[in-house]
Amino acid sequence: MIRFTVRFLLLPPLALALSACGERGSSAPPSSAAATALERASAVSQPEGWEDDLKIAPAQDLNPDPHVLEVNLEAKPAELEILPGKKTTVWTYNGQLPGPLLRAQVGDRVIVHFKNSLPVATTIHWHGLRVSNEMDGSPGITQPPVEPGGEFRYEFVLRDAGTYWYHPHVDSAVEVGRGLYGPIVVDDPKDPKSFGDDLVLVLSDMSLDDDGQPLPDDNGGQFGVLFGREGSTLLVNGRVLPHLKVRTGKQQRWRVINAARARYFNLRLPGHRFERLGGDNGLAARSEDVYSIVVSPGERTDAVFTPADPPGSHKVLQWVPFDRGYGSTFNRPREDLLAIDTVDAPPVTPEAIPETLRAIEPIDVSGAKEQRLAFTIAIDGKSVVMGFNGKAYEHAQPLEARLGETQVWDLVNDTDFAHPFHLHGYFFQVLDDTRVPEWKDTVSVPSKSEMKIAVKFDERPGMWMYHCHILEHADAGMMGHLHVIDPSAPESASASPSTHMHMTSHAEPTYAAPTDAGPAPADPDGAP
Ligand code: C2O
Ligand code: CU
Ligand code: CU
Repeated sequence: MIRFTVRFLLLPPLALALSACGERGSSAPPSSAAATALERASAVSQPEGWEDDLKIAPAQDLNPDPHVLEVNLEAKPAELEILPGKKTTVWTYNGQLPGPLLRAQVGDRVIVHFKNSLPVATTIHWHGLRVSNEMDGSPGITQPPVEPGGEFRYEFVLRDAGTYWYHPHVDSAVEVGRGLYGPIVVDDPKDPKSFGDDLVLVLSDMSLDDDGQPLPDDNGGQFGVLFGREGSTLLVNGRVLPHLKVRTGKQQRWRVINAARARYFNLRLPGHRFERLGGDNGLAARSEDVYSIVVSPGERTDAVFTPADPPGSHKVLQWVPFDRGYGSTFNRPREDLLAIDTVDAPPVTPEAIPETLRAIEPIDVSGAKEQRLAFTIAIDGKSVVMGFNGKAYEHAQPLEARLGETQVWDLVNDTDFAHPFHLHGYFFQVLDDTRVPEWKDTVSVPSKSEMKIAVKFDERPGMWMYHCHILEHADAGMMGHLHVIDPSAPESASASPSTHMHMTSHAEPTYAAPTDAGPAPADPDGAP
């Protein structure tokens, strides 16, 4: 089924164009009578240099095999200009903020030679990718932390098309907050061209003083932990208020990644709506007409943006306060995020976006084991202790699942804040008929609400993590383990590592022997 972007009927120049193009597919001859007929969006390219201000350099591919992306990633401090004329010391991958774009096709293999040139230990976690357990980057769980000067080789297959990202999993509020994050795009060559040209938008924030130096990591003390730290400087692809050039009617597929520690991004552009295509695990079941793009920390949203302003206009995509609980919108203005300049070129007729995008079978939850997970916050003397079911990470027993089992997790949030819940290793479905069906790895559970998610632990046994993606909350204990047990495996392989290990612990548990990441099941359309 095809849905046309109805909003254009309200815009005089395009309304004209659409009525002029009543007979679709018959291209008008270049006669004077047809001079008012507009070209189709697919027939023109984006304006020259449209994304120059937003480019994220890809990582250099060292492997001649077209289906293997082999890259070096080095975590290291770098001096970058974020505020005009000021040098800021940030932590980067390969000296870039955000880190290099990792882009390949679904089914391709990725090999990362990682080197840690930071003064502290770190790991890389591949947020949302279905990697095998020992590639997950969970320190003390799936691998030892990579010490300063140390190296680690990651290897996995990109099994699912979509927009993902990578970031450290040690002391993550600090390390991500200082700039360690990068985008991953897994292309599906079957995606319709009508979605438009891809634009990756990595959203984040930082708190900088007047000299451009980052404020201390513990800025705001325990209040910073309780609220989560929102930096005062908003960043799009590591830049402050970059410019994007667009042409009226010429579509772009925005791949929006929220890499901030705590900030929710609620994006609006006056006079525009967006066609949401999906999020965490690629396309949703249907496209959805939305007036704002809301992305909680860790989440992704893919949406088609159809510029609708007349040629020569200038507008700004705004960050709009989003109510993520106690005081989070109080007295806060909207903020400018991305300047959008519509070039002086004739408008084009936008392409139709299909309404049906992908078949998403609901997970069969009959007889599924239920587990209740309540987000909990306690004030213990002067410090804030967070957790699930009243237990901070280091004191909690792992949840258990047997390989092949389906479970329903009841996420209960009685706290005063919304929490973006994230599960490693598996995609889940939110059991809520009001939502367009899609596969998720991160979902915001609003304050004073409850949400059920269904997960099938169909493969890749091991010890996985789940946590709130407000990274201060995770570091304060709102995090847990999930042990997916393979009953047929020998005792040692399914034995759990110590559950009393803090994220930064340097103790040495035994790690599962690396297994081949496996060939990609050629199933980009089906359920993961
Ligand atoms: Cu993006 Cu465990 O996190
Ligand atoms: Cu993750
Ligand atoms: Cu939280």
